[in-house]
Amino acid sequence: MQTGLRGRDFISDLDFSKEEVETVLELAWDLKMKRGLGQSHALLRDKVLAMLFFFSSTRTRGSFEAGMAQLGGHAAFIESRTTQISHGDTETEMGEIFGRYFDGIAIRHVTYGTGNRYLNLVAQASRVPVLNMQDEIYHPHQCLADLMTIMEKKGRNLRRKKMVVSWAYASSYLKPMSVPQSLILQMPRFGMDVVLAHPPEFELMPDIMDQAREMAAKYNAGFEVVHDMKEACQDADVIYAKSWGPLLTTQDPEEGKRIQDQYKDWYVNDELMALGKDDVIYMHPLPADRDIEVASSVLDGRHSVVFDEAENRLHAQKAVMALTMS
Ligand code: CP
Repeated sequence: MQTGLRGRDFISDLDFSKEEVETVLELAWDLKMKRGLGQSHALLRDKVLAMLFFFSSTRTRGSFEAGMAQLGGHAAFIESRTTQISHGDTETEMGEIFGRYFDGIAIRHVTYGTGNRYLNLVAQASRVPVLNMQDEIYHPHQCLADLMTIMEKKGRNLRRKKMVVSWAYASSYLKPMSVPQSLILQMPRFGMDVVLAHPPEFELMPDIMDQAREMAAKYNAGFEVVHDMKEACQDADVIYAKSWGPLLTTQDPEEGKRIQDQYKDWYVNDELMALGKDDVIYMHPLPADRDIEVASSVLDGRHSVVFDEAENRLHAQKAVMALTMS
């Protein structure tokens, strides 16, 4: 276990070492138990987190805000459109100024080519930790909750467990690539054999793929890419299937939708889940396009762990906040 996270940013999944992620998870389980017992755990009394949103949210906002209150502090919900950012407040000014008001700055900014840069520029100017509530490259707090959930269902030793990270069809909008990218970076560090499945136009960022291969090699885990969802799901322990936009191919929403619409058969149904092991779990960060991306019988069925996964956002984020902001 490694401590020493006080004052640190958490923007990329790899900002914390594997041992530091283990520390986060240990604390997350402790805080989850304390909440279960109704025991006070006011580790951040009088601390205030700024939550700056450039994009909508249900779980991220709810879990960060509730988490800060449960830790004895407060979270300020700030929508970018209600600020003076569009009138000239720069990233440096936001980092300097919010760094003087708040004890942490959490940001969601998923605009392609803009969000991650924004977070890093704020972090460079801020004297307090910057926490990534999702950008266009990473969703690291979602990934911590996912890892926590997998360990709860499959045991702490995940070596040789097969995890499928698959694209799935959705019709609502071109979703960011951040969830699959965080998963392929983090899961090989815990020994999981990751199979990434997507149609050819839905490639992930080349530097993220390189880092994922590097992690898999370093931690002696498998990492392969296939273009067939059914092939990928054979004997899987975990099927994590969600949509993302073909953003390396096009960022035009109409063209992206035309490409997506060719792959409506990339759909998670009971037949697909049956290809996995009998105790395979189905994961999705939500929101899902119900009965388009995944069948209700899967989302609400015996393999689904989506509500435990959503709950663990709360516990994992409380651990990160307590360790970085105390
Ligand atoms: N999974 C997730 O980040 O959910 P929200 O977009 O609702 O925050």
